[in-house]
Amino acid sequence: MRQRTLIFSLTLIPLVLAQCPLYSHYAFKKHEPLSTGRHELAYMRPIPSCRTFIAPEVEEAVERMRHVIVDPDLMRVFENSWPSTLDTTIAWRGYAEEPVPPEVLQGLAASSEEEDVLQVQTVPLKPPPKPKGKKTDEELTFVITGDIEAMWLRDSANQLQAYASLLRPNSSFDSLASVFRGAINLQARYILEAPFCNAFQAPDESNIMRKSSANSDTISPYFDYMKVFSCNWELDSLASFLQLSDDYVKATGDFAFFKKFNWTGAVQRVLETAESMRIDSYTPTGEWQHTPYTYCAPYGGTPINECNGSPHKGNIGLVRSFHRPSDDACTYQYLIPSNMMFSQYLNASSAIMAQIEPSDGNLTQWMRTMSTEIKEGIERHGVVRDRKYGDVYAYEVDGYGSANMMDDPNIPSLLSAPFLGYVLQGDKVYQNTRRKILSKDNPYYAWGPVISGVGSPHTMPGRVWPMALIMRILTSDDDAEIVANLKDLIKSTDGYGVMHESVHAHHGGMWSRQWFSWANGMFGQVILDLEKRKPHILKMGFQ
Ligand SMILES: *[C@@H]1O[C@H](CO)[C@@H](O)[C@H](O)[C@H]1NC(C)=O
Ligand SMILES: *[C@@H]1O[C@H](CO)[C@@H](O)[C@H](O)[C@H]1NC(C)=O
Ligand SMILES: *[C@@H]1O[C@H](CO)[C@@H](O)[C@H](O)[C@H]1NC(C)=O
Ligand SMILES: *[C@@H]1O[C@H](CO)[C@@H](O)[C@H](O)[C@H]1NC(C)=O
Repeated sequence: MRQRTLIFSLTLIPLVLAQCPLYSHYAFKKHEPLSTGRHELAYMRPIPSCRTFIAPEVEEAVERMRHVIVDPDLMRVFENSWPSTLDTTIAWRGYAEEPVPPEVLQGLAASSEEEDVLQVQTVPLKPPPKPKGKKTDEELTFVITGDIEAMWLRDSANQLQAYASLLRPNSSFDSLASVFRGAINLQARYILEAPFCNAFQAPDESNIMRKSSANSDTISPYFDYMKVFSCNWELDSLASFLQLSDDYVKATGDFAFFKKFNWTGAVQRVLETAESMRIDSYTPTGEWQHTPYTYCAPYGGTPINECNGSPHKGNIGLVRSFHRPSDDACTYQYLIPSNMMFSQYLNASSAIMAQIEPSDGNLTQWMRTMSTEIKEGIERHGVVRDRKYGDVYAYEVDGYGSANMMDDPNIPSLLSAPFLGYVLQGDKVYQNTRRKILSKDNPYYAWGPVISGVGSPHTMPGRVWPMALIMRILTSDDDAEIVANLKDLIKSTDGYGVMHESVHAHHGGMWSRQWFSWANGMFGQVILDLEKRKPHILKMGFQ
């Protein structure tokens, strides 16, 4: 999500795609044929031979939807957006390799001068050949976020969730199920490598060239800049790993997979990491104590107090998160939506642990206990009385009574609480919260002739995030609300027919991110959701 480093890759594209244009360039131009509706939307899918993964079931569903969706512009946005992750972001798939034995590495060091010369003479498209470890049967999938060449735990889990409704058990490496398994395995590896970090570089096995991510931020504990892309401590990143695991097992029933590799170890690391971020800011004798993770960034969002942020009351059930799912720093670190998501998916994925854990293990119990404690913490400390709306959920609190009253479009958001399964849609506190955050009483609500909805400090006030309109539809039963938001989404793509990150509420030509696969996938998800819940809406024309 973060835009600090935009890398236009020359190194990412696998060999088979060598003849294909870089999608980061392709995505800036509008391609024909245009849709036949009044918005004349471009066709943005790469040609089949340039797609990064082809799933026959996704292609079939796109064709099926041509007979379900009546409006030509809506159909065009759907067919451009939904396949985006598979079309453009499965940057590499393969099998994990065992570490290279030390004697082989030594041999390589002796000949490294020669390698350097070779590298200077060639275009740096390919890194120098590396010694290979023994191949295992552990699948790996490296899913980039779109226009940024790195794998976010959150984005990749959500990017794949767009296809969860089509997922079926399948042991073949060519299947959608394998794409999911590979992403779970790679996320487990990343979490074991650096559990506080949120975005990662390509795995060794891929031979994709990596660059150091070192910059002027001061972050502890230490992490490897060649493996990590950015190290924001975001509780929802760990929740996303559990969500992805839950999505996979719910669709396939394949519990046995979770026993094979490092899933249990990664979950244990998740629990230890979250536990460590519940401490009080003071010791019982009154000394100021640091959190295990600290973060200072000279440019934007610096947590105060020696990189710890403001004091937080500890041991109240909630887990501190230094950053939001927008990757912006939190004002107060008990970020309620992230705690909701984490509580929910700890509990959901404990069903996997219960199936595979030896009888003397305590991880299943630990997951359930922590889930319950967090939920109690949210209900006790995360609900605030609002004069106009009644009891509402706060976006962030500190446990001392301070609260930040807003919502951000990135998921987990307060708006998404029932979508995440944390509360029922009809819940009173949720409905109060929803009315407030979808009104001008949310400081980040933006409105105008182009599009109206929730905006984010990540892109400046006054810019609406299409993702928030999608979430509004996913959490609504009201036809008029659904249709109005769908119309805004279709008319605000600036002719590209894809979801942007943000769109200026008054100037349709001002938007951010031309290639943002998470939001694209979500658009597909909401249309498939409407096909089930509100098929008559897909029969409407929006011309
Ligand atoms: C598994 O997936 C592959 C690749 O999509 C497909 O060819 C095969 O038919 C699938 N097998 C089953 C049993 O669905
Ligand atoms: C992950 O599992 C593999 C084999 O299943 C093992 O060789 C490796 O050491 C494990 N990695 C970690 C970090 O535990
Ligand atoms: C589970 O065991 C670990 C130590 O291995 C301990 O730190 C943790 O508190 C235990 N959790 C529960 C819920 O018993
Ligand atoms: C966990 O899931 C179980 C079974 O669905 C449910 O009964 C329980 O209330 C959930 N706990 C929390 C804290 O959400």
